[in-house]
Amino acid sequence: MKIAAVYGSPRRGKISKTYWLLDAFLAGCRDEGAKIQLINLNEYDIKFCTGCYTCWTKTPGKCALKDDMPKIIEILKEADLEVWAFPMYFFGPTALFKNFLDRTMIFAEPFFEIKDGICTHPMRYEEKSKDKIIISVCGFPEMDHFKPIHEWLKFMEGRGLLNIKAEIYRPAAEFLVAPPFKAKKEEILEATRRAGQEYVRDGIIKEETMRIITQDLMDQEAFIREGNKYWQWEIDRWEAKRKENL
Ligand SMILES: Cc1cc2nc3c(=O)[nH]c(=O)nc-3n(C[C@H](O)[C@H](O)[C@H](O)COP(=O)(O)O)c2cc1C
Repeated sequence: MKIAAVYGSPRRGKISKTYWLLDAFLAGCRDEGAKIQLINLNEYDIKFCTGCYTCWTKTPGKCALKDDMPKIIEILKEADLEVWAFPMYFFGPTALFKNFLDRTMIFAEPFFEIKDGICTHPMRYEEKSKDKIIISVCGFPEMDHFKPIHEWLKFMEGRGLLNIKAEIYRPAAEFLVAPPFKAKKEEILEATRRAGQEYVRDGIIKEETMRIITQDLMDQEAFIREGNKYWQWEIDRWEAKRKENL
């Protein structure tokens, strides 16, 4: 299986919790023989879609902008599966990821058709990579926060734009760096690696594996208490540094 993994957190590398989960998931895929191409969106020059529709009219399937997007498109076309990995920013994907997504407009045809009672665009290619696995993390502790992202993806799926094979969501992700959660972090990342193995091997991620990945770290009261303590500590730390430098 060829996998294109699109990484869309503006945080580069090891401090990104999205990256932690993506890295673990891809390691599991590799364990079962998958070939991975990682697309770190931070490392590519991707201009904003200008809405000129050249990719639908003058040069069908080809964008007018000159940047790195054609390199990414080639990787996507070759892949059997895309993993989309982004943190939640304002209840949706990051601008970095959305910018990438807008530029995949070349995969759609301009024409209209009806699908399940409402209008959509047919796809230009029978893309091998229409299968997607979503990985996302967020700061708040409740799984409910992923509802808007889930609904958005499901709506796109209903319009025929993608097939969602699995959604891996990790709330309260920032707490995974806290020393008291070291064992939980390891358990969650091991389960995420297992999720990769299970998907490549069996085409499905076990419910038990998902349960471990999404497990609560603490109740809301503890989240609010510890979270507020942390932010106050950060503010005080910077305040002390500022005073030191006066
Ligand atoms: C601009 C911005 C918007 C955010 N919006 C949300 C949000 O809507 N809901 C949430 O739970 N966390 C939100 N967060 C927190 C991030 O999702 C969280 O810090 C996450 O761990 C970042 O992932 P990363 O480490 O992979 O970059 C936001 C963070 C930033 C910087």
